[in-house]
Amino acid sequence: MAEKNTLIFVGYGSMAKAIACGIYNSNLKSKYHLEIAGRDSKKAQHFIDCNHLGDIAKIYQSCCEINVDQKIVILCLKPYALGNFKYIGNANSVYSVMAGVGIQTLKQHIHSGGYAKLMPNVGARYQKSSTAVFVEGDIKQEAQEILSSFGSAVFVDSESLVDASIATGGSSPAFLALVAQAIIDAGVREGLRRDDALKLVRATFEGFASLMNEQTPDEIISSITSPGGTTVEGLYVLEDRAVRGAFIQACHEAVAKSKK
Ligand SMILES: NC(=O)c1ccc[n+]([C@@H]2O[C@H](COP(=O)([O-])OP(=O)(O)OC[C@H]3O[C@@H](n4cnc5c(N)ncnc54)[C@H](OP(=O)(O)O)[C@@H]3O)[C@@H](O)[C@H]2O)c1
Repeated sequence: MAEKNTLIFVGYGSMAKAIACGIYNSNLKSKYHLEIAGRDSKKAQHFIDCNHLGDIAKIYQSCCEINVDQKIVILCLKPYALGNFKYIGNANSVYSVMAGVGIQTLKQHIHSGGYAKLMPNVGARYQKSSTAVFVEGDIKQEAQEILSSFGSAVFVDSESLVDASIATGGSSPAFLALVAQAIIDAGVREGLRRDDALKLVRATFEGFASLMNEQTPDEIISSITSPGGTTVEGLYVLEDRAVRGAFIQACHEAVAKSKK
């Protein structure tokens, strides 16, 4: 049997949880040993226990010096905490989810054969992250395998496009939540009870997710917009109020803010 590789998580917060659980619930479980490192070994042990990772994960005991030699390193720290650890040895590969931390900065801290900068989103909690990733070095296949365990990965051509994906994945769930709120309020305005409106809108989003997997937005709009019908009246109001432009500008501002 092939020897298992070691995948070391630095950090044990919500992103680490999403990725570790994705690996645990996929066929990668048999391929990797997980080590959980961080500044508090009690928290690392709690992370293993409460996520039921005990059969593949153990805590990494030393808190400040982390042996990364030949390991796959998953950095799930707050960006300012990267320099609080000393990374010893040559890693196989380094994956960073830290917003605003570039590969040049990673290189100053950790020696590795390959680097990946990724931007997952909140869907990772359900193994449904929309993740943009940029890789440097010969690790694309490995990256594809690891990232697929917690959602969909899109490989982009530069680090700046990972930051650009704040528009399509990072911040956009909040914008969609605002749309959901508005449609629920609309239902209430038309006389529905609020809890009924919430249930109906949840089901609408679920159905919409399936439609989006098979059709483009143009096709979805065409399929429910009959000539002179009800939907086109609503679309006219949204276009007249420049809602499309407002969304594009909102996403632009979110990306711009990440660079400040
Ligand atoms: N959550 C998301 O949806 C999302 C999406 C994309 C990218 N990210 C990025 O993912 C990274 C982690 O986010 P998260 O949501 O997992 O955060 P989180 O749940 O708050 O976890 C943060 C981790 O960083 C550690 N940490 C914080 N300050 C530290 C310090 N001074 N020294 C050592 N360790 C420290 C924490 O350990 P202690 O508990 O011991 O402090 C914890 O392990 C961030 O860089 C964020 O930009 C998150």
